[in-house]
Amino acid sequence: MRQKIVAGNWKMNNDKKETTKLIKEIKKSIKILPLKNTRVIVAPTFVNLSSAVKKAKKSKVEVVAQNMHQAKSGAFTGEISANMLKSIGIKTVILGHSERRTYFGETDSILAEKVNSALENKLETIFCFGELLEDRKSENHFKVVENQLKNGLFHLEATAWKNIILAYEPVWAIGTGETASPEQAQEMHAFIRKIIEDKYNKEVAENVSILYGGSVKPANAEEIFSKPDVDGGLIGGAALKAEDFTAIIKAI
Ligand code: G3P
Repeated sequence: MRQKIVAGNWKMNNDKKETTKLIKEIKKSIKILPLKNTRVIVAPTFVNLSSAVKKAKKSKVEVVAQNMHQAKSGAFTGEISANMLKSIGIKTVILGHSERRTYFGETDSILAEKVNSALENKLETIFCFGELLEDRKSENHFKVVENQLKNGLFHLEATAWKNIILAYEPVWAIGTGETASPEQAQEMHAFIRKIIEDKYNKEVAENVSILYGGSVKPANAEEIFSKPDVDGGLIGGAALKAEDFTAIIKAI
């Protein structure tokens, strides 16, 4: 059975003190929740990962990275490798977030290299993708999403997909308050699952968790998560407050 996941992408927020305080609050607030087949994930910034891993140890909170470089090591100023993440206890990395694609020029082929590097280093990957507003307005959104998946992931063998989590994040919904409707999310998630089944098989398609991201809030989480092909959420702004993040976790 595929996992339910609520992941908080903190982006460039929280210093070391704020990071450990927020993790402590989340740990406390989810301690008594049953969380059957549900994972709770937070993604602090690189500089706070090590202290976050220590703070979350032996709790229900998993700490993951927001990005990594595809190279093993070398002259890549400011970058972090898969091995460096592993060395501080990181087991999962977010790749392909639209902000990486937009602001840092991460193309589908760069992301395919990053995915390969993550998997070679036995890191689970939360792979982000999603269309721009103009793609949806021109009714190209299915084609855009299909190409992002094909170019970023469809070179993988079926067995590699046990370490892939998908995060569909329509760019027009990120940070805008313009959440995709539950019906829009379900329609795209079902489409994604179908193209994975067509490429691989039913088992791969049925077992991959597909998260929705883009203005998920306590008020809309339950309806979005109730859809059959939505397996959770990748949360931005609402993940920065323990109370809101916990309310979203309770909605799954
Ligand atoms: O990665 C999750 C993020 O892009 C969604 O942000 O603030 O719309 O929940 P937000």
